[in-house]
Amino acid sequence: MTKNNKLGYAVAGLGVGKIHVESALKYDKCELVAVCDLLTEKLKAVTEKNPEVKAYTDFDEMLRDEEIDIISICLPSGIHADFAVKSLEAGKHVLIEKPIDITVSAAERIEEARIRTGKKVGCIYQNRNNAVMRPLKEAIDSGRLGRIFLGTFAVKWYREQSYYEGKHSWHGTWAMDGGGSLMNQAIHTVDIMQWLMGEPESVSSTMSVNNHNIESEDLTASVFRFRNGATATFLSTTCAYPGLSTDIQIYGTNGSVELDADVLKRWKIKGEDECDEEDMLDRYGRGNRVACAYEPGLKYGHITQIEDMVDAVLEDRDPQITPSEAIKAVRLIEAVYRSARTGKTVFFE
Ligand SMILES: NC(=O)c1ccc[n+]([C@@H]2O[C@H](COP(=O)([O-])OP(=O)(O)OC[C@H]3O[C@@H](n4cnc5c(N)ncnc54)[C@H](O)[C@@H]3O)[C@@H](O)[C@H]2O)c1
Repeated sequence: MTKNNKLGYAVAGLGVGKIHVESALKYDKCELVAVCDLLTEKLKAVTEKNPEVKAYTDFDEMLRDEEIDIISICLPSGIHADFAVKSLEAGKHVLIEKPIDITVSAAERIEEARIRTGKKVGCIYQNRNNAVMRPLKEAIDSGRLGRIFLGTFAVKWYREQSYYEGKHSWHGTWAMDGGGSLMNQAIHTVDIMQWLMGEPESVSSTMSVNNHNIESEDLTASVFRFRNGATATFLSTTCAYPGLSTDIQIYGTNGSVELDADVLKRWKIKGEDECDEEDMLDRYGRGNRVACAYEPGLKYGHITQIEDMVDAVLEDRDPQITPSEAIKAVRLIEAVYRSARTGKTVFFE
């Protein structure tokens, strides 16, 4: 707790962590007390505007700061578990950027530490808060779309070679990024796929490197089968110049929904009136505080999840996305890579 009797918030890693900083500064139930990064210029960019915020270059030293209750872990993906576990052991709650870590076993270490310490752990998958997602989830779960038999998912993004070099040279490595276009960029959509389509049964995949000098992949292609009998195709790439869409298409026996990113392109359900996105949101709901997802200057639904994390600690409840939920996409991605390496279908237990 801070002197002002608010939850003390800290952010480690000031790349995407800057969005966590902005969100914590704006939320009235917490106070941003510290930031941590190895690079002093990134720390200065925060503290010059917010002189009351403490700057740390040593994460372990920050852990001894008693004003801090919650730490956002926005560090390279391959060290999430190490930093999350030591934060929990130091008595802090943590909100971890996607992916929770790059392997299922590392993510399980976080879950074990969460149970052992009794602290809260939240994980970022902000796209679940996009306006159209909750009505779509509701239409599937309530059966209005009928039996879902097909989903098609394609993340067609673009990254220059420079994205994988210099101070970002951890990108595209197996050790720190856990992969390429799928683990880093498309994981949001993998999470959405499993959230909408249900429990997977098997996956067959290929992967390749097409237009970058990296060790992992810049393209994956997979066919998933689900226990409910549905099939999904999933494509990910960082080679689609100049950075194209994220297509999500869901087909049920009673209707079809097609999205490009979070924008609704088609919503057709037998027996229901035609509707555009505004009608659909009015009729079926805008989700939890989804207006926050569109606040100017803030990216996607981050602010929703940061506020939810603070509320979860204050209300002594689970945050929106727990480790056992966050781990699901990592398990699917591990299986895609295993299938692509071996040329064999991977079956989920
Ligand atoms: N949710 C999203 O949309 C989203 C977007 C981008 C990145 N991310 C995730 O956020 C994480 C960070 O990605 P990024 O793009 O911000 O990376 P980045 O390389 O831009 O930033 C990481 C920062 O961590 C700092 N850092 C590294 N090791 C450190 C240490 N030991 N102690 C303190 N600081 C340290 C680096 O100096 C750097 O400033 C990744 O896990 C990534 O997958 C999520």
